[in-house]
Amino acid sequence: MEHESVGLQHSMTPSLPCKFSMQIVESISAMRRWSESERRENRRIVLVPTMGFLHAGHLALVRAAGERGDSVAVSIFVNPTQFSPSEDFAAYPRDLERDRRLLEIEGIDALFIPSAEEMYLAGAQTHVEVERLSVPLCGSLRPGHFRGVATVVAKLFNIVRPQVAIFGEKDYQQLQVIRRMVRDLSFDVEIVGHPIVREPDGLAMSSRNAYLTPEERRAALALPRSLCKAERLFQRGEASASALVGLVHAELAREPRAQVEYVKLCDPESLEDVERVEDAALLALAARFGKARLIDNRVLGR
Ligand code: PAJ
Repeated sequence: MEHESVGLQHSMTPSLPCKFSMQIVESISAMRRWSESERRENRRIVLVPTMGFLHAGHLALVRAAGERGDSVAVSIFVNPTQFSPSEDFAAYPRDLERDRRLLEIEGIDALFIPSAEEMYLAGAQTHVEVERLSVPLCGSLRPGHFRGVATVVAKLFNIVRPQVAIFGEKDYQQLQVIRRMVRDLSFDVEIVGHPIVREPDGLAMSSRNAYLTPEERRAALALPRSLCKAERLFQRGEASASALVGLVHAELAREPRAQVEYVKLCDPESLEDVERVEDAALLALAARFGKARLIDNRVLGR
């Protein structure tokens, strides 16, 4: 590790001008001190929670954060409680040094990298469960996942105390779960959704794209392609779930490397299945390509 394990410290790359200085904060108490001093100076804190291995999608959220407030904090924490025992927690890609450099270049104010030991004290037995929104789509296939997400995000909100937090629409269900948690538990934070950032060829950016072999990477294009085709069908006047979902399934079935987990048309707020697009509907899917489990979505009628 390049930086020392002290609470609050300045990290400056000598070749960069001083304005690109970023605090690296490793403990909860130091993060609280940073947040308090920002608030005392009436600086509006915007938080971007991440699990690291940053890509251009994360960095777009970071830039949007800069436009929403005065002080940008990014957290990097590969949260063990949102991975089930059969999932990729140990293998999840990590490169803290590269992430640190990228965030320093973005000119963020604080990078929070708490330890799992401090985030989850021995004997912890309190969780946040957003009940019905956590059930459909990814919820049924990843039991406990959204409970882990909601709990860690609640903790991050309590520690960093941001006025604004930004989440990507790629993880659409996660965004809805967090919006509902904030509403139901009266968190004093504004949640901002950011549109999906895609590779030039259309694949949604994801840290898990790193698992794809070149063949799987090509095959994964079936995801955005199928959603685009469904959107065109919708624009031509087809609003029924069976036709739109059927088209996506048919398109994905042409790609032998795709193992489809679900394709759903649902209400964009409740995430309950709908039979037709009325005003707007979420077309969401998940599929595996080799070791990578990928998700994508499109809101029709927005
Ligand atoms: P992570 O997968 O690292 O994503 C961090 C944030 O970046 C999330 O809000 C996610 O939706 C957003 N994001 C990722 N890829 C994106 C893309 N292609 N376009 C737009 N936004 C994108 O999501 C998590 O981490 C965790 O569940 C977390 C919220 C940090 C809780 O542990």
